[in-house]
Amino acid sequence: MRLLVINGPNLNLLGVREPHIYGTQTLADIEMDLRDSFPDVAFDFFQSNHEGAIIDRIQSVIGSAYDGVLINPGAFTHYSYAIRDAIAALSVPVIEIHLSNIHMREEFRRHSVIAPVCTAQLSGFGSTGYRLAVTTLAHSHHTSHTQ
Ligand code: DQA
Repeated sequence: MRLLVINGPNLNLLGVREPHIYGTQTLADIEMDLRDSFPDVAFDFFQSNHEGAIIDRIQSVIGSAYDGVLINPGAFTHYSYAIRDAIAALSVPVIEIHLSNIHMREEFRRHSVIAPVCTAQLSGFGSTGYRLAVTTLAHSHHTSHTQ
């Protein structure tokens, strides 16, 4: 199984950025943990602070060998219709991830324009959310390949 893991703006600062909210693990720690936890999954990791670069990477999934996408769109979650449209163009499952529970924070974070075009949303599980998303995609991939 081949998965693309996309992290959006300010997630390159994990470990340093508001650790009481986002934890002390760096993005590199989270990525290494995924590779260690799922040795049979081929991961590609991408992080960008730029909306257009994230859209280009999402579009690269079309016609590729990826079986699914994990995305933490950062603050773009709350207002990027362009990222939403890019995700809507994909036919593989996409799981939206947030380290924090966006529903118990500021009002503007409670709404995701991304969620309606995703398979699932994981919010508030910290870095475990990334592992939960891979477990979910691996399960549905296995099921669809054994039917
Ligand atoms: C976040 C939540 C967003 O509201 C915020 O802008 C982020 C991180 C999270 O992982 O909890 O950058 O997506």
